[in-house]
Amino acid sequence: MASTTDAATSHAASIGPIAVDPPVVLAPMAGVTNAPFRAICRRYGAGLYVSEMVTARALVEGNPKTELIAAFAPGETPRSIQLYGVDPRVVGDAVGRLVDDGRVDHIDINFGCPAPKVTKLGGGAALPVRHRLAAAVLRSAVRAAGSVPVTVKFRLGIDEDHLTHIETGRIAQGEGCAAVALHARTAEQLYSGTARWAAIGELKERLEIPVFGNGDVWEAPDAMAMVAETGCDGVVIGRGCLGRPWLFRDLAEAFAGRPVPDPPSLGEIIDVMVEHFDLLAEWFDPHRATREFRKHAGWYLTGYPTGPTPRRELSQLSDRRQLLDVLARLDPTATMTDNARRARRGHTNGPRPVSLPDRWFELRDSDDGIDAAAGDAASGG
Ligand SMILES: Cc1cc2nc3c(=O)[nH]c(=O)nc-3n(C[C@H](O)[C@H](O)[C@H](O)COP(=O)(O)O)c2cc1C
Repeated sequence: MASTTDAATSHAASIGPIAVDPPVVLAPMAGVTNAPFRAICRRYGAGLYVSEMVTARALVEGNPKTELIAAFAPGETPRSIQLYGVDPRVVGDAVGRLVDDGRVDHIDINFGCPAPKVTKLGGGAALPVRHRLAAAVLRSAVRAAGSVPVTVKFRLGIDEDHLTHIETGRIAQGEGCAAVALHARTAEQLYSGTARWAAIGELKERLEIPVFGNGDVWEAPDAMAMVAETGCDGVVIGRGCLGRPWLFRDLAEAFAGRPVPDPPSLGEIIDVMVEHFDLLAEWFDPHRATREFRKHAGWYLTGYPTGPTPRRELSQLSDRRQLLDVLARLDPTATMTDNARRARRGHTNGPRPVSLPDRWFELRDSDDGIDAAAGDAASGG
């Protein structure tokens, strides 16, 4: 056994009527957390598995690509979606449609996207500065959602001089959100440095609604440490599960106070890879699956002693046959090297100054809306 946890207590969290047990949430990740990936993760443990980010305006306009991103596999439950938007009316419309059509069980609102094309227009991680507008977006979402719980996910703020997490948490609570999730980095940090878990604890102390902590949970003991250090109600898992859906099994064991299993052998990973590819091909089409799977292949093989050739081949994958050929040459008994367990995967970039609209901080108390273009497709984060 790799490690054990000393927590004999079991934990559970709730988001409105949804029991999140174990208290583990798959973070929304654009380009990653589509229905096939969620299905693979869910196999390893219960919890809440959030969709890719969906742009509210594209949903309202009935964009077919957006409809596919917003779709759930038959039987998927609870159905959890993340929406991005800056216009209270558009966000309310999008929520209303989803709820009236009975398409979702949980809605998360993205206030954390640090992409320059979004923040420079005032959207994503820039929005909490404009606290009245942020409140209006949440009010509109909560009102349209009726009994479906709404949550919001945000960062610490723009940068060290402009921390907004406590204020945003209070606004969310005041507007009727069922819970909040804090990625404990500023927008300026992007994915650099380490997440400041102490800020999660600070937020937890100030709010009555559940607080989910996010940032740098790479292994199950990290989650236990985050809960112990911050008192947060649950953990949100992003990059740690890329190529490692079995992290959800480890988390379920750890939260139940049981020993955490060793990482799977390469043989188990190979089976998961083929299954993941097939689910993607079924959900999209074989061509798109091939393109989507290239990044996953690299993540799956991280930490296994395969040598560079299979990784290179899979990064240029051309079809399912090639996938099977490359995987057939790997040693299924190989195990993950110890020092690879915490290997970073996914984004690591930053820090980078945040692009903002002119006079953004001077306008913080303004009631005006912002440039409609800020409501266009964002790119996550
Ligand atoms: C590829 C990728 C895409 C992401 N897309 C989104 C997104 O659409 N919405 C969002 O709120 N966060 C997004 N994030 C941020 C994660 O949800 C999470 O907050 C962040 O990765 C920190 O958690 P971690 O340290 O567990 O990875 C994304 C992260 C990555 C790596």
